Amino acid sequence: MSALPAGFKFGVATAAFQIEGGAHADGRGESIWDVFCRVPGAVLNGDNGDVACDHFHRWEEDLDLMVELGVESYRFSIAWPRILPTGAVAVNERGLAFYRRLAEGLLERGIEPIATLYHWDLPQPLQERGGWVARGTAERFAEFASVVATDLRDVVTRWITQNEPWCSGFLGYAEGRKAPGIRHWPSAVAATHHLLLSHGLATDAIRAAVGSKAEVGIALNLSPVHPADPSSEADIAAAHRQDGYLNRWFLDPVFRGTYPQDMLDLFTDEYGPEVLAPIRDGDLDVISTRIDFLGVNYYNPMRIAAEPDLAPLRLRFAEPREPTTAMGWEVDPEGLRTVLKRIVTAYRNLPIYITENGAAYNDPDGAVEAVADPERTAYLEGHLAALRRAMDDGVDVQRYYVWSFLDNFEWEEGYAKRFGIVHVDYATQRRVPKESALWYRDHIAAARAGDGSTVVAMNANRGD
Ligand code: FCB
Repeated sequence: MSALPAGFKFGVATAAFQIEGGAHADGRGESIWDVFCRVPGAVLNGDNGDVACDHFHRWEEDLDLMVELGVESYRFSIAWPRILPTGAVAVNERGLAFYRRLAEGLLERGIEPIATLYHWDLPQPLQERGGWVARGTAERFAEFASVVATDLRDVVTRWITQNEPWCSGFLGYAEGRKAPGIRHWPSAVAATHHLLLSHGLATDAIRAAVGSKAEVGIALNLSPVHPADPSSEADIAAAHRQDGYLNRWFLDPVFRGTYPQDMLDLFTDEYGPEVLAPIRDGDLDVISTRIDFLGVNYYNPMRIAAEPDLAPLRLRFAEPREPTTAMGWEVDPEGLRTVLKRIVTAYRNLPIYITENGAAYNDPDGAVEAVADPERTAYLEGHLAALRRAMDDGVDVQRYYVWSFLDNFEWEEGYAKRFGIVHVDYATQRRVPKESALWYRDHIAAARAGDGSTVVAMNANRGD
């Protein structure tokens, strides 16, 4: 295994709504997730983000813990409703001040800040004007990006525009599993287009604010998609559609300035040509504006079978292979390498940040003194090893972020699914690093000791 490239950093990731709490603190407005949490049955156990991990008040303790673990970079998100409580115009200075304190606190501790501008918490007033179905939301997002980047340009140079537009667009507007909980495919096509448009507009706005030292990218959730039965023509075609839906609908416009023709055909066949009306001349030039890095969120591969009755995609998920996580997601480290090599060969050989990678397992709730989570450790170890193989193959990976630093609000799963390497007792807000966090700490330390092989040897000797 070759040495890590100069500048490579090990990090942890979180998102505002999932950890901050402080729902009404310092003038924060409501987001679509505050509203969605109040919809009966939308979120498991009726959980909400009012308190979450109370990071809004405990951020200093959290940053100190990152130092103890040797974390080198922290990916957090900035809550739009803290900065622009009505979505536009009136800037809430107290909201900006929170993220300034956070970014300065990171820099004081020698940790690099990297800020995501949209991790799904759209200001509710903008939802009432159509949300991402409305083109104006993309323009408001660029204004938000400009406000934040102008304010924080001296402390944050690395920016992620959108996090997983597939989730916020298709799961939010077509499948209705995430906020705003809409089930209308033509709306989702419009929403994903405007999310992508907003990415391009915001990229330019950030560069204008921060100048030449800005590094800007987008975080996409990407997965290899396999036919359930590799000998079935129908399953192969269904897997190709899922790949178009999940991967190509986002990669093609960002890197090639086009939408995949098979998906355009599929949507127009089903909903008529007007479904593509939101895509205006020049939009794809904006969307394909140069990015400095691609953020890759990788969790699992997918297995897909044909299901002719299920419009518009006419497919269903087939059984994952074991082992799986508490989310039921198949564990396949090699899938990460597959995704990365595809980007390089089919799209562009650009710097890549693994902006999320991690796993939920059934850790204990409540008070703990320690958490033995050997499966999560194995997950991280396996994926970091696959990452090193991809890097040895020539993929230019510059950052790796574990999802997540803390157990947190896992969207429609509420607090039931624990992704953290640090355990949170929600009754007391006590943080306890799990064994996986201690493993990650040792992994970073060993990598910094300069000998990649030490990392492997240490792991083999742990015996747990
Ligand atoms: C991703 C999200 C992140 C978290 C993980 C488990 O889709 O970006 O917020 O929920 O999944």
